[in-house]
Amino acid sequence: MRVYNFAAGPAILPLPVLLRAQSELVEYGGHGMSVMEMTHRSSMYKSIIEGAEASLRRLMDIPDEYAVLFLQGGATMQFSAVPMNLMHTGKADYIVSGNFAGKAAQEGAKYGEARVVKTSKDRNFAYIPRTVRADFDPSADYLHIATNNTIYGTSLRTELPDCGNLPLVADMSSNILSEPYDINRFGLVYAGAQKNIGPAGVTVVIVRKDLAEEGPIAEYVPTMLRYDTQVKNESMYNTPPTYAIYLAGLVFEELEKTGGVAAAKERNEAKAKLLYDVLDASSFYRPVADKADRSIMNVTFTTPDPDTDARFVKEAAAKGLVNLKGHRAAGGIRASIYNAMTIEGASALAEFMREFEQKA
Ligand SMILES: Cc1ncc(COP(=O)(O)O)c(C=O)c1O
Repeated sequence: MRVYNFAAGPAILPLPVLLRAQSELVEYGGHGMSVMEMTHRSSMYKSIIEGAEASLRRLMDIPDEYAVLFLQGGATMQFSAVPMNLMHTGKADYIVSGNFAGKAAQEGAKYGEARVVKTSKDRNFAYIPRTVRADFDPSADYLHIATNNTIYGTSLRTELPDCGNLPLVADMSSNILSEPYDINRFGLVYAGAQKNIGPAGVTVVIVRKDLAEEGPIAEYVPTMLRYDTQVKNESMYNTPPTYAIYLAGLVFEELEKTGGVAAAKERNEAKAKLLYDVLDASSFYRPVADKADRSIMNVTFTTPDPDTDARFVKEAAAKGLVNLKGHRAAGGIRASIYNAMTIEGASALAEFMREFEQKA
């Protein structure tokens, strides 16, 4: 029996995708072999990776001026690749709105001056720092942000920072494809797959071609980490994570079938509302994130004390609502309700929350 999996990542995948993968596991498309067994240089595999890219381009409305890459190393590898390719003048601005954004800035500081323009560390990242254009250094190489902070449950949903001509670089790992973003506002977007895209093992990078073509900041930059190399070789400088890309393609296709990113946004807002409504009607639960900055992907809250948090997590699991323990940096409870979480799953959790409160 499948449970409702609220894990932050690797996370729940759409059931139709898993079933389709199961049906194609041993023999794919009349080719007499599994996708796992195909050489990446074959025409049959080429149609898989090209299909995945085309689908993502349609979903996110990605213009031709941008390259789409399927890389390895996780989002964390991009913390290094971004400065190694873009920090040409040796200066970049970072907004530190969470743990991963902080790690990105730390990594950037190895290659130049990674200036922390604003941080919300003062209140354990319960909000998104607000900025104005004058906060940014116009001579910096880029501004790095995270659009969704997985651990704390905050999100930059409506207004992107006004950073003038600075290329905006975004870690979208935990909310890519959850709601529309105008890709033209970004110089580069990256996302580890294991939340809204597919299984762990592939990282999507969407990069403006002119930025990639400038080349890395120095010759020492490993060939595999050079965006120009990866763009030129269409993510196939070496063997790409072939099966993870195939599954990502299935997830994209399923999302297209179910109305695309705009429809996903509506479903995600409805699921999040079910949970936030319980939190707002309660004096027992306390939401972690400031209301204005609430994520529709990761809903974070606490009960009156850590022992009760632990009991909540345990009793929920006994009812098939699993992986609700908050990240160790934030504590409490976290319900990750990515695209693949159904409205039924979110309703079941909301119902459990009400029951638990009544009994407490
Ligand atoms: C916002 C964000 N950035 C980066 C990462 C790190 O991703 P990876 O494990 O793919 O390196 C995560 C992982 O949860 C994340 O949520």
